[in-house]
Amino acid sequence: MSDARTMWDDRYAAPQFAYGTEPNDFLREARMYLPASGSILCLGEGEGRNAVWLAKEGFDVSAIDLSPIGLAKARMLASAAKVPLHTIPADLSDCDLGQNRWDAIVSIWCHLPSHIRQSVHRRVVAALAPGGSFILEAYTPGQIHRNSGGPKSPDMCMSAAALARELDGLRIFASRELTRDVQEGIFHQGPSEVVQLIAVKPA
Ligand SMILES: C[S@@+](CC[C@H](N)C(=O)[O-])C[C@H]1O[C@@H](n2cnc3c(N)ncnc32)[C@H](O)[C@@H]1O
Repeated sequence: MSDARTMWDDRYAAPQFAYGTEPNDFLREARMYLPASGSILCLGEGEGRNAVWLAKEGFDVSAIDLSPIGLAKARMLASAAKVPLHTIPADLSDCDLGQNRWDAIVSIWCHLPSHIRQSVHRRVVAALAPGGSFILEAYTPGQIHRNSGGPKSPDMCMSAAALARELDGLRIFASRELTRDVQEGIFHQGPSEVVQLIAVKPA
């Protein structure tokens, strides 16, 4: 088993939801840029708070994650909310995301080593259906000096400039770096340096 999977399985083995059960604030704000209905893939979705919220909004949602323990909790959350949810236990470093398939792809705090992230983002561009949207929030390298959450390696953080390069083929609709107060479970708490992005695959 990979070190990363062991780390995430250990975190999700605790009874509480590590990032809470409410959706990410930026995803909520970006709701209007999602299609009225359709299929959404959530990357690195862990315990499923964003995926379950999207399913409650009426989308057909699939959540992919390295951690089967996190995804088991995602299924519990979906079951409690009485919504369907597809879970895909897989490593994003080499899994097939499909071609022209998803009406939207959502990436919330999905921090990977940069060479894997670049490959994932190339696959995101190919996997979005024409007209589909990509919504992302992540920590920037400036977060390294804070203790409010996120990876401790700058290589795993993202900047607006790097995302623009990596998402060649999408039209960047909105992209900004900002400091915001994040209150999500016990691991994301306090003022944070983040990048937020909404991009669309040309129809
Ligand atoms: C900070 S958590 C965010 C979880 C969720 N998106 C949320 O906002 O609550 C990062 C997630 O990425 C997943 N992850 C890390 N490396 C991965 C990989 N190589 N393949 C798939 N998932 C991965 C972890 O298991 C973890 O659930």
